[in-house]
Amino acid sequence: MGRVDGKVVLVTGAARGMGRSHALKLAAEGADLILVDICAPVEPVPYPMSGKDDLDETAAAVSALGRRVAAAAIDVRDGARLAEFTAESVATLGGLDAAVANAGVITSGTWDTTTADDWRTVLDVNLIGVWNTCVAAIPHLIERGGGSLINISSAAGIKGNPLTSPYTASKHGVVGLSRSLANELAQNSIRVNTVHPTGVVTGMSVPAMHELMATTRGDLGPIYQNALPVQVIEAADVSNAVLYLASDESRFVTGTELKVDAGVTIR
Ligand SMILES: NC(=O)c1ccc[n+]([C@@H]2O[C@H](COP(=O)([O-])OP(=O)(O)OC[C@H]3O[C@@H](n4cnc5c(N)ncnc54)[C@H](O)[C@@H]3O)[C@@H](O)[C@H]2O)c1
Repeated sequence: MGRVDGKVVLVTGAARGMGRSHALKLAAEGADLILVDICAPVEPVPYPMSGKDDLDETAAAVSALGRRVAAAAIDVRDGARLAEFTAESVATLGGLDAAVANAGVITSGTWDTTTADDWRTVLDVNLIGVWNTCVAAIPHLIERGGGSLINISSAAGIKGNPLTSPYTASKHGVVGLSRSLANELAQNSIRVNTVHPTGVVTGMSVPAMHELMATTRGDLGPIYQNALPVQVIEAADVSNAVLYLASDESRFVTGTELKVDAGVTIR
């Protein structure tokens, strides 16, 4: 028996990195998957996003585990398209039990180099995109008689991570959004929780921040230091938390900030 046997889970940002890891962990534990990723650049974010090949690779790996999968290239900023694809896939797969709002982007720089465009893009993807994912899932979770919304925040959703103001604000916003929905949806037996990882090596990168900390702002480095003696954690460590929140083991856990942060937020 898998820990999420027979459940259907929506995962956004599933083409690579932690989204792929969540999808594969859930599939290995018995879930069928609905996978979404933009598979295209996000301006003005300075590093490449996934391609369609990456999403196809995640979908193929889910199939290879013997689970059913529906996948599409969709921007989480397009709430209507996301809801439409979710509804189509739910009709095919026979319901929905959980959604992992994982798609996210980051920009970095000092206060005087951060632009309005940075702000709008990061909030649009990381905050309204999470909202759109919840809204796409909620009707199906209500129909199911309950479910789990798992919103991926960050250590930056708990502490004041510098040189990434829009990102830090967006990840704090995910907490407020989730707490609010947790109250509103409790009567429908829908649980809403956030997950707060410390650094994980993925395609997400912040070259400007590293450059600043290596040159003029070394004083800010300790804010990013984990308490436990590790520089970074693995995507699988975060997927274990996602699996727990998707499973019935967490059936009375709601409104929680689940930190998988090697202690960085207690420093
Ligand atoms: N990597 C870290 O150190 C770290 C730490 C804490 C939290 N997080 C969070 O974890 C989540 C996953 O990040 P990751 O590290 O795997 O990054 P990643 O860049 O490797 O993966 C993110 C995925 O999201 C997709 N994506 C981006 N914008 C999208 C959009 N508008 N619509 C649909 N898909 C979109 C990308 O194409 C990519 O496949 C993010 O929410 C991120 O903020 C990351």
